Amino acid sequence: MIVADVIVDLQYGDCGKGKVAHYLSNKNSYTHVLRYNGGCNAGHTIFHKGQKFITHHIPAGVFFGIRSVIGAGCVLDPDQFVREIKMLEDGGVRTKGKIFIARNAHVITDAHKAEDKKRGGKIGTTGRGNGPAYRDKYGRTGVRAEQIARLKPYLVDLYREWYSGKPVKILAEGAQGFGLDIDWGDYPFVTSSHCTIAGALLNGLPANAVRHVWGVAKIYETYVGSKKFQPKGTVFNRIGDIGEEFGSTTGRRRQCNWMDMQTLERAIHINGVTHLVFNKVDVLREVGEWALIDRKKVVRFKSEREMKDFVIKRLASLGLKRNRIYFSESKERI
Ligand code: IMP
Ligand code: MG
Repeated sequence: MIVADVIVDLQYGDCGKGKVAHYLSNKNSYTHVLRYNGGCNAGHTIFHKGQKFITHHIPAGVFFGIRSVIGAGCVLDPDQFVREIKMLEDGGVRTKGKIFIARNAHVITDAHKAEDKKRGGKIGTTGRGNGPAYRDKYGRTGVRAEQIARLKPYLVDLYREWYSGKPVKILAEGAQGFGLDIDWGDYPFVTSSHCTIAGALLNGLPANAVRHVWGVAKIYETYVGSKKFQPKGTVFNRIGDIGEEFGSTTGRRRQCNWMDMQTLERAIHINGVTHLVFNKVDVLREVGEWALIDRKKVVRFKSEREMKDFVIKRLASLGLKRNRIYFSESKERI
């Protein structure tokens, strides 16, 4: 039997999926944690036993000794992968026999990275070779993990992993977010993979395995890339400063805006969200302004309570129960 809980980001990435993955891995008895899309363009900031880690490829399960699998929907940079294992080991995390790569995951080559650095500027990519690696995958000229000798010790066959006959309970952890999804994001200002629940299923999971879908959002929005996103007004720079909104992969300043209700609604519908976490509520509290965008208009609130009530009421109309909506602070767990 397979059961899967899936984590999806409902905005433009950087909403705190790593934190939710870390929390759920600790709380539930998962047999596997699966990274289901993206490459080392992602950066997951995780606080573990008081120590800060930034992972790019390896799922959060590794912090708890759970089998951590980089899935077939991902593209992998072998150098970065090896560096990350060393970083974890140096930080006291035992990784031996815990980290695996789907043999049919694709590889980011040096040529992919060089091309992305040269041509990725128009979109404002992370320059990590993600787009060229996926292009070659779909162009059927790509390189799979199973072709790389030094990855051999880590390879698994996802079919055997899921369908061995033993009960399997998977936490599926995504990268990037709905607004960056290749199909549903603001094309061409998107990443090259599937950041929705569909992206998780692409890793050999049957649809009826899905139990909970954890949507992760921030109480405001951020975006990194070359399109103009941040409106005029000093409040958005304040949000960025107080929220420490700098990319964990590239260090770039993230553009900020109020949370857009329609982006959220679309992402909730398309992902089938059952649980929702709003992160970084303390940032708006410190900024001292409460607002969001609804039907292209800025709606302002007198207090935190008023804004939360508005959001909860709207989400109820989408079928999300109050006791499945969490408002969380920057460093706090859910
Ligand atoms: P790429 O994924 O590196 O090709 O970049 C495409 C777009 O997605 C750019 O706007 C990147 O800044 C953005 N992006 C990619 N990965 C992440 C992420 O993990 N968090 C936030 N933005 C990302
Ligand atoms: Mg990130």
